[in-house]
Amino acid sequence: MITRRDYLKQASLAGCCLAVSGMRMFAAEPDADISGKGSLKEHGQKRGIMAGCAVGARQLHDEAFQRLIAEQYDLVVSENSMKFGPLSPKPGEYNWTDADALVDFAEKHKMKVRGHNFVWHSQLPVWFKTTANKDNAKKIMVDHINTVAGHFKGKIQSWDVVNEAIKVDDDMPDGLRKSPWYELIGPEYLDIAYHTARKADPKAKLTYNEYGIENDSEDDSKKRAATLALLKRFKQNGTPIDALGIQSHIHASTGETYGKGMRELISGAQDLGLEVYLTEFDVNDDGVAEDDPAARDRAVAAVYTDYLNIALENKAVKAVLTWGVSDKDTWLNGMREHGKKHPNRRERPLPFDNDLKPVAPFYALRDAFDKAPHR
Ligand code: G3I
Repeated sequence: MITRRDYLKQASLAGCCLAVSGMRMFAAEPDADISGKGSLKEHGQKRGIMAGCAVGARQLHDEAFQRLIAEQYDLVVSENSMKFGPLSPKPGEYNWTDADALVDFAEKHKMKVRGHNFVWHSQLPVWFKTTANKDNAKKIMVDHINTVAGHFKGKIQSWDVVNEAIKVDDDMPDGLRKSPWYELIGPEYLDIAYHTARKADPKAKLTYNEYGIENDSEDDSKKRAATLALLKRFKQNGTPIDALGIQSHIHASTGETYGKGMRELISGAQDLGLEVYLTEFDVNDDGVAEDDPAARDRAVAAVYTDYLNIALENKAVKAVLTWGVSDKDTWLNGMREHGKKHPNRRERPLPFDNDLKPVAPFYALRDAFDKAPHR
């Protein structure tokens, strides 16, 4: 863990705040007190940017966690409990317990709520595969959106109506992913989903949420072009859409760069009249200083600074949400359990450590809010 003392020591040792991987600067010294005026949400609010986090159902039972998120954030999103699979154990049946708990918590603490998500190729109900077919898939989708949007009507700041609909490698027209929805309904599933959502909860902003679209690589460039083209078609067809969600799952050591691509993406969405949210921000630290947690925190913080400074320079970006809060609960640890990642250590992609203490990425995020122009 990098404490405030480590952070200050590091900053003074490095003369003018030298971080890893080049001359990245931490803009300001961290405050002793991160509550009240020192919190992420207060720093975000000064610039008109919402500070948010994804919350897992289990975490919400922990009182220290509850205190921390109520203090730091003004926007929450459920990590899993509003998805189709977790919500619907049987056709037409819904279990609202976990999702309602988060919405109630948010209401109590005057936080806004993002809804994630209605239509995705993943985390579908177990029954979907054996029940959905070309005759009933449209009804299943529309009924699902009406049921869930109706249940939370008026309580949701924005809904991810469709999540991850583009996959250029699938070689389908317009770069669309060959998802079950595409295969069963056809490409019009997208427009139907947005129209249905608008009618069901007219006050919620409707978002298209996607990953792998903002860096300067050829793959991201192709996916970015397909995403912007999709959003443009929505606008031309009168399909209701209010915002682009850039998931922002990025890496500290793979050498991906952000600049031209990110600016092109955000200004492209802005030109279409859309807001932009960074919806699932985290920095995977695979390949960084295996045995040195402080070095890993510095590396992750440096990437926070680079990425967020570029994204937040555009006033269309109205929210930054991290995908989780602490390294105890990040989904990236779950990936490791499935044998895909390092077996011996936790990931450290988030603003707080295992003990819910702020680490270098916290200060980098707060500094990035301070550096952003007011919107
Ligand atoms: O709910 C079961 C639980 O009953 C069981 O005991 C446990 C045993 O492993 O599994 C639980 O389900 C897991 C669920 O997370 C809740 O922990 C699933 O196996 C696991 O696949 C699921 O992973 C989620 C993943 O989406 C699914 O694709 C992650 O938590 C969640 O962070 C991740 O979030 C996605 C966004 O929705 C979209 N963008 C990418 C992002 C990261 O993959």
